[in-house]
Amino acid sequence: MTSISRRPLFGGNWKMHKVAAEAEAYCRELPGLVSDALGEVVIFPSPTLLPTTSAGLAGSPIAVGGQDLHPEPAGAHTGDVSATQLVDAGCSWVLCGHSERRRDHGETDAQVAAKAQAAVAAGLTPLICIGESEGERESGRALEVLERQLSGSLAERPEPFALAYEPVWAIGTGKTATPEIAQETHAFLREALADLIGEPAAASKRILYGGSVNPKNAASLFAKPDIDGFLVGGASLDPSQFSAIIRSCGS
Ligand code: PGA
Repeated sequence: MTSISRRPLFGGNWKMHKVAAEAEAYCRELPGLVSDALGEVVIFPSPTLLPTTSAGLAGSPIAVGGQDLHPEPAGAHTGDVSATQLVDAGCSWVLCGHSERRRDHGETDAQVAAKAQAAVAAGLTPLICIGESEGERESGRALEVLERQLSGSLAERPEPFALAYEPVWAIGTGKTATPEIAQETHAFLREALADLIGEPAAASKRILYGGSVNPKNAASLFAKPDIDGFLVGGASLDPSQFSAIIRSCGS
């Protein structure tokens, strides 16, 4: 596929961690640590921390995103958050279809597609997450599963979007995909994307790797041609670890 330069993207997914005072301290530290970073940085905090994080990062190039959204613009959906509310809280990004949402809330590809479309309609960029389970990889079905998740999650053809490949067996387990497995999978996903949205668009899409990324393994993964950055969970909770990952990818 045509080679094209893609701006690296680094997401820090805080998951269900931190309270406001911790978010404030983090936001005081991170911008100085990544000021020479190559690429774009986005922090994904819990909804309660969005205003604090947005205020803390205001004036820095670091963006803020939600971890999930409801596909409806408003309504009787107790406990959910809409795209408009995320924008109001300072977000420009949102995760869609993280494997923990799929696991804990039974999110389907069709729901992920609706969420991504709602995000785009409100001016947010969705970071759409897909990934196979350990059993699916061991039984040789990983690529088939990924292709299905990809086409299902992009069914509404959102634009813009970025993609995160996060093998479920690598998330929070300390087991990272080898650079070779990750590259092979990313190249497959880029080909599959080309079938869905055309080759020029697929060549310009950022495909992030996620799953136990840390300052030691990031550079060898990032050296692969189809890995355009990372979605980092555990190691993003500490600004020095997260910035070390980003800086190991060049500055
Ligand atoms: P991890 O999580 O870096 O802790 O494995 C990644 C993710 O779930 O986005």
